[in-house]
Amino acid sequence: MKEALSNIKKFLSPIGYTKGRWRGFLTAEMYDAFQSVFTVQVGVFIIAAIETKNIENIKFWAIILVVVNIFSYFFGWVAEMCRESANGKVDMGLRRKYFEKYIHLDNTKVETIGTGKMQNIIFDGISNRVGLVNDLFVAILVEILAIIYAFTLIATKSPNRTYFLGFTLLFIVATFLIRVGLGILQKTRKQAKEINMDLARRDIKILMSKFEILQNNKLSIEMDKQEDLINKKVKLRQRGNTKKIFWQTPASGIMDAMKIGIYVFVGIGIVTGNYTFAYIMLLLQLLNIVSRYVWNIRKYLKEWYKSIVHIDKLWETFDSISSMKNTKDIKKFSPKHGDIFLKNISFSYEKNKVFENFNLEIQGGTKTAFVGESGGGKTTLIKLLAGYIRPDKGEVIVDGQKLSKIKLTDYYRHIGYLTQDPSVFDGTIHENLIYALDKEPDTKHLEKTIKDAKCEFIREFDNGLETEIGERGVRLSGGQKQRLAIAKIMLKNPNIILLDEPTSALDSFNEEQINIALHNLFKGKTVVVVAHRLQTVKQADRIIFLEQGKIIEEGTHNELVKLGGKYKRMLDLQSGF
Ligand SMILES: Nc1ncnc2c1ncn2[C@@H]1O[C@H](COP(=O)(O)OP(=O)(O)OP(=O)(O)O)[C@@H](O)[C@H]1O
Ligand SMILES: [Mg+2]
Repeated sequence: MKEALSNIKKFLSPIGYTKGRWRGFLTAEMYDAFQSVFTVQVGVFIIAAIETKNIENIKFWAIILVVVNIFSYFFGWVAEMCRESANGKVDMGLRRKYFEKYIHLDNTKVETIGTGKMQNIIFDGISNRVGLVNDLFVAILVEILAIIYAFTLIATKSPNRTYFLGFTLLFIVATFLIRVGLGILQKTRKQAKEINMDLARRDIKILMSKFEILQNNKLSIEMDKQEDLINKKVKLRQRGNTKKIFWQTPASGIMDAMKIGIYVFVGIGIVTGNYTFAYIMLLLQLLNIVSRYVWNIRKYLKEWYKSIVHIDKLWETFDSISSMKNTKDIKKFSPKHGDIFLKNISFSYEKNKVFENFNLEIQGGTKTAFVGESGGGKTTLIKLLAGYIRPDKGEVIVDGQKLSKIKLTDYYRHIGYLTQDPSVFDGTIHENLIYALDKEPDTKHLEKTIKDAKCEFIREFDNGLETEIGERGVRLSGGQKQRLAIAKIMLKNPNIILLDEPTSALDSFNEEQINIALHNLFKGKTVVVVAHRLQTVKQADRIIFLEQGKIIEEGTHNELVKLGGKYKRMLDLQSGF
């Protein structure tokens, strides 16, 4: 019971986002439903007036009927207006809530699920929840109230209450059967949703990997895989339909029995002369309304269950991924010299262990470079330092403050993290460049940075800095994106700078120049850089060779060359022609 209540509360919580608008919306909706019952009621008064030959009453109720109908159009319009504005409020409230949650979700887990799937889960979840709260819930509530009203009218006017009670009982049984049946189908619906998501993912794969598929002539294989999924879905739906027959048959049987019972009931009433003409008219019209509403509720319940599949998926996903946001002991981050200490760090991706009891101290204001074979854990290490992922064990301590105890958004303001695969977002180059800044940089500074980061290519576009880039605009080359990302960090000018292969996509000319600019700009700051090309790391204060999550060599360039180990061999290989 407690759980059921808390579930209802959880479902209805988005109503809170409508900030009072829902009351107007609910009132209008209720009026909308009651007016049809009321019309019947007025009809009954007219019939009664006809029976008693009271012309004045006939005229009076006819006028009332016209007035009520005119008002119903007006209130119907008000209801639509209220519904739209309440929908907008709930939609926005949910978006705020879920994007706020999403932005803090553990990044590794989100990467595993994939952006496409996440997009489906969030959008389907939100839109279904808006529909469920604003349309379905209110509609069901209103129609149940209308049915209760109709029953009350029948009961109070009925000369024979026993029939009425039997009728009510049958009605409850039929509704119960419908509910149970819909519950049974729920599992099938969940499975179908999973299949649909797999299908969507495969569609996206074909759209995104067009050239790869064309080049290897793999479209028919891709189509076969889709066909497998479609077949699975068909079987699932067929099984679902079979199950449906088992519950739908008794439910419709009861409904039919109810109809026949009513005819018999009315028939006997007419023959025995027990019922007045007005009562029979009332009964038939009310029953008409009841059956229409019962049918509607059945439809709404079906939609309700469909919506819940999407909403459950949303909740399940968000509950299964931990948040990176620290909820306890939230302290502000106060930057000092940029000292970094990795204390007993252990980290794994699922079962793939990358670090175990890893320790490292990086002195503030120095430049540390990580080199090593691919897959050694360099990117993982940088992500840990950036607070982008969280260690399973141990602590990342920056300027004496544990990352697990501080406000990460605060920390992010003081670091610059260039990922191995920097992205640009839809917008102008200018918007991309200044995204990390609180205020517009002065033109001279911006121009100098563009020059230092070798971003002169911007000037070649017709619209210069105002050129749209990303999905809807100009596509930048890998090297151009990388230089833009470097310019962004130069403009942000943070205390701690984490660079994961900053120049990997650049030609040697640009690389050398950018290295010089980086070296000058980042003087006195804590710089951690990962690079395969040793040209980039030569000037570092300390070079660390990482292999399978362990430090196997460390020192300055000269020290490591003298040591004659793996670093030296790497250097020889790179300069051996
Ligand atoms: N998101 C992920 N999910 C699962 N495993 C991952 C993930 N990212 C990396 N790994 C694994 O963790 C290990 C370390 O990867 P990492 O990216 O840190 O290596 P790296 O040293 O940066 O390599 P590279 O030089 O190729 O960039 C690898 O074995 C890799 O397969
Ligand atoms: Mg890497």
